[in-house]
Amino acid sequence: MLWGSRFDKPPDELFARFNNSFHFDWRLYDADLRGSAAYAQALARAEIISAREADEIARGLERVRGEFARGEFVSTPDDEDIHTAVERRLYELIGEPAHKLHTGRSRNDQVATDTRLFLIDACASIQAAICNLQSAICNLSERHLDTLFPGYTHVRRAQPISFAHYLLSFFWALERDRARFADARKRAAVLPLGSGALAGNPFNVDREFLARTLGFERVSENSLDAVSDRDFIAEFLSAAALVQIHLSRLAEDFIYYSAPEFGFIELDDAYTTGSSLMPQKKNPDALELVRGKTGRLIGDLNTLLVVLKGAPSTYNKDFQEDKEPLFDAADTLAMTLPIVTGVIETMRVDAAKMRAALDESMLATDLAEYLVRRGVPFRQAHHVVGALVKTAQARRTKLSALTLDDFRAASEKFGADVYAVFDFDASVRSRQTFGGAGAVKAQLELAKQSLS
Ligand code: ARG
Repeated sequence: MLWGSRFDKPPDELFARFNNSFHFDWRLYDADLRGSAAYAQALARAEIISAREADEIARGLERVRGEFARGEFVSTPDDEDIHTAVERRLYELIGEPAHKLHTGRSRNDQVATDTRLFLIDACASIQAAICNLQSAICNLSERHLDTLFPGYTHVRRAQPISFAHYLLSFFWALERDRARFADARKRAAVLPLGSGALAGNPFNVDREFLARTLGFERVSENSLDAVSDRDFIAEFLSAAALVQIHLSRLAEDFIYYSAPEFGFIELDDAYTTGSSLMPQKKNPDALELVRGKTGRLIGDLNTLLVVLKGAPSTYNKDFQEDKEPLFDAADTLAMTLPIVTGVIETMRVDAAKMRAALDESMLATDLAEYLVRRGVPFRQAHHVVGALVKTAQARRTKLSALTLDDFRAASEKFGADVYAVFDFDASVRSRQTFGGAGAVKAQLELAKQSLS
């Protein structure tokens, strides 16, 4: 045990289990060993331990790393947490120098350092996974620049757009997600080590050296804040919840689009399952789970925020509850991002079905715009076309089946060229303003550039 001499008896058995975190925080082992190796060097540079002792510690830590990496590390019931476990094992391996390693250090600055290192790595792998998904979106978009289908609002057919334009809408949401992780990473890259329990380090360890060695961008300015701050985890979890919400919304669309009633896309067998009862079923379980996992991510963020809410300043044991949500979020995204990427890479697109779903009523806006180009105020044009839609509906015909007399009765600004409006491709082409359905090639180029 790291403490105990001032106590008359050991902790209650149930409380000991309650207090221990090794069963989950062992995952910080790599970060903990890196932090300890750097700290041993800093102690040697400050002449608190000898260069030989620092070497012995470094070699011992490497052996501990090997044990963890090979799955051979054996924990004991007294291993309260990863920090305790590493120090206990190090002492078994190298003896006394192990007991000098914690000089001037507290588990408070140690755990804050470890968690930041873990989170910095997690950001990098999530950013890479988002990038892969964005590439898959670009590749599919490239093939469907001219594949038209209905753009929806309120799940009602609204205006014709290309499938590429639709797909790329997720690209930009993911681009913001990637930036949020880059940002979270930046604010996490501030070194707490050297802050001690709360008041700072008395041995003049070189914190700049520690920061450089461990890959931090700078050192924390206030030792109390350094052991107290868990904002960086909240930022990570917030970014995690948002990216998962984006995946969930995409999943929701694709589940509908792949239903036979829509038939726009067909999901590959590799990402679907069958029914134990109904032999004909092919269920979109991968996407449903992506949607379903979102609750976890929102829960992870919520858990952390509630943990922080009532905690007095500096370190409190409440903070031990910060790690499981962090691990859960990182683990979940490590699956959902590549799975959505796989779904997109393997799905088949039925361009004919998409096109067949276009409905002439989706050109009503274009009809109003036709009138606007002939000097009719938009509000009035909207009114005129609304009435034409009603007439067509009453007659159970398409808008283009109305006669020129019908059109001219509604507005004398209509000419024989009105029938040219009923052209889905022309409608899409007409929205050439930057960001619009008619400017998707340029959009795709920008998207590709932001990945390079
Ligand atoms: N297992 C603890 C945690 O995760 C490590 C820090 C313990 N510090 C302490 N003063 N008891 O927060």
